[in-house]
Amino acid sequence: MSKRNLKQIAIIIGTRPEIIKTAPVIKKCIKFRVPFFIIHTGQHYSENMDRIFFDQLNLPKPEIRINVGSGSHGEQTGRCLERLEKILLEKKPEKILVQGDTNTVIAGALAASKLSIKIGHIEAGLRSYDRSMPEEINRVIADHLSHYLFAPTCVSKENLKKEGIVKNVFVTGNTIVEALKENSSIAEEKIGDKILRKLEIENNRYFLLTLHRQENVDNRDRLKEIFLGINKIIEKFKLPVIFPAHPRTVKNICKFNLINLLKKIKTIEPVGYFEFLVLEKNAFVILTDSGGLQEEACILKVPCITLRENTERPETLYAGSNILAGWRSKDILNSVVKMANTKRRWRQPFGDGKTSEKILKIITGA
Ligand code: UD1
Ligand code: UDP
Repeated sequence: MSKRNLKQIAIIIGTRPEIIKTAPVIKKCIKFRVPFFIIHTGQHYSENMDRIFFDQLNLPKPEIRINVGSGSHGEQTGRCLERLEKILLEKKPEKILVQGDTNTVIAGALAASKLSIKIGHIEAGLRSYDRSMPEEINRVIADHLSHYLFAPTCVSKENLKKEGIVKNVFVTGNTIVEALKENSSIAEEKIGDKILRKLEIENNRYFLLTLHRQENVDNRDRLKEIFLGINKIIEKFKLPVIFPAHPRTVKNICKFNLINLLKKIKTIEPVGYFEFLVLEKNAFVILTDSGGLQEEACILKVPCITLRENTERPETLYAGSNILAGWRSKDILNSVVKMANTKRRWRQPFGDGKTSEKILKIITGA
């Protein structure tokens, strides 16, 4: 790959999924000697939401950390924007790369655009068409500010077209395919069924649950209703539910006094990527409101129930790997009954696993 006198690319990341999904691009930068440096905003900072992924994925330490931490949307985005602007002014990268739809992404895109630095957006064009989601606002703005739009599928390309964005849109697939390819066998080797034994669960005989979406976990009635649904599943299927709980959710379970509803749910701390891949691969059904899990479940051929009323990953619905259950307990139970016996024959729509190379070729002009 030619570098064509490219000055540096700043790769801006801040949260767990951004680290995981940007890792293949960082690895390719190293392999093809593309000049880059990593800026970590510190949106996620707990050991098990951040450092563990750098260690497991063998990523270089970020050159710069701006430690924005937690806060309201305005506080977090504002701190990111102010500190990123300073760094970009000082380091003068030629381009930046951001991935996904977090506050880190919107701040990175805003900071760069005001300094006339070109922006590449990985995972461009995803739309839930639900503006009550903070992530939807971040996606729309980041896409409209970007100069290179790396759309994972034709669906995302079409979404951009509907908003008048047609220039420099590239359908590249999703880097999650590579993340899974590269790490599944390592996970198998390093973790094997150790985690299943530790949790006293058997292959294909447990549900895996994750929850962290603001609209679900910051709303007491909704969170309660979801846990009531999970308890109904435990009662009907007589199978355990493993729940690596996101810190936001843990905080709200305590705040809303819902701990009693978790008595029968095996709640654990968030785990590393290797451990989580083993848990995903061997699950009977995955229940989640995560974006990345809808994709990973589809690729790993594990049925997925999404605890939301919409998704920016409709490709998984079309494939038949995922259904939208919403958040009401009876709908959650009915969806599990529906998906429990589904044939795992779908094809994953997220590309051939060469996404990061395609992205780098485009952004370096190779
Ligand atoms: C963020 C993203 C979301 C993404 C998710 C991935 C936005 C608007 N949201 O949501 O799109 O799906 O990351 O997991 O950018 N906390 C810790 N330790 C940490 C990080 C957070 O304890 O390392 C707690 C704090 O109490 C914090 C809360 O979790 O207030 C929420 O963190 P925040 O980064 O604001 O949002 P997420 O829910 O993680
Ligand atoms: N993940 C992990 N450990 C966990 C839970 C999730 O490694 O305990 C990984 C998961 O495999 C996926 C990513 O984190 O790649 C998803 O992150 P999250 O659900 O927080 O964010 P989203 O994808 O919804 O933005």
